[in-house]
Amino acid sequence: MNSTIIDGAQLAAALRAQYREQALQLTAQGRQPGLAVIIVGDNPASRVYVRNKGKACEAAGFHSRLIALAENTSEAALLGHVQALNRDAAIHGILVQLPLPAQIDAQRVIEAINPAKDVDGFHVASAGALLTGATDAGFAPCTPAGVMAMLKSAKIDPTGLHAVVIGRSNIVGKPMALLLLAAGATVTVCHSKTRDLGAITRQADILVAAIGKPRFVTADMVKPGACVIDVGINRDADGKLCGDVDFAAVKDVAGTISPVPGGVGPMTIAMLLGNTLVAAKRQ
Ligand code: GUN
Repeated sequence: MNSTIIDGAQLAAALRAQYREQALQLTAQGRQPGLAVIIVGDNPASRVYVRNKGKACEAAGFHSRLIALAENTSEAALLGHVQALNRDAAIHGILVQLPLPAQIDAQRVIEAINPAKDVDGFHVASAGALLTGATDAGFAPCTPAGVMAMLKSAKIDPTGLHAVVIGRSNIVGKPMALLLLAAGATVTVCHSKTRDLGAITRQADILVAAIGKPRFVTADMVKPGACVIDVGINRDADGKLCGDVDFAAVKDVAGTISPVPGGVGPMTIAMLLGNTLVAAKRQ
């Protein structure tokens, strides 16, 4: 089968161009959207993500601030930075890059962010808004929001379709399931304890893989013609970047598929800019 490949990089670039227009308008009114990113320690992958977020902000005409803290930073010191950013009128969005070192309780830090500036959508206020369908409050987490934008661009309406999400994290799996449910899908959430995973994934019209295992989803796990969205970013045994889906084999079974790199990754950053714009408009 000749599958359609969703070009996340191209879609993200188009969105970033729209956001740049809006950012320039806000800046002309003296309200340049501002995003602060805090990183603790020197996890190499986190450093790359954070650098890309800063670059995307600047290219889109946003104010960008990076706060890089040492690995041994205390929770109290980190909370001090968050509180200062909560009070800072030039900053509309605050993102604390995860994971955090073991001495810091990540959830406590997330709950310290002013919910109006929670552009990651990880605060309980955002999670509650997503759960209850309060679309005028809170923020949808960027990665699952990016997946929804990819489905829309591929003209896939989830209404009545069976969507299967593999993964139950607060960052991707759970909010992904809620967004698909709100869009009218019948949703199944699978995870590491799920029995006979393949029997479930083979029922999926939309399959979202957020497991964190290189090329875990194989062709025999996919229904012919399904839409397969790969959220994974892994390094294989040869150090090559790859997703959670065995792209080379699955592309011949799926009807629509997203690649890694160039799929969900760029969309996550575009959604972050979108959330920061919304935050700046609301504040
Ligand atoms: N670590 C991996 N993905 C994310 C994300 O979307 N936001 C934050 N803050 N940390 C992450």
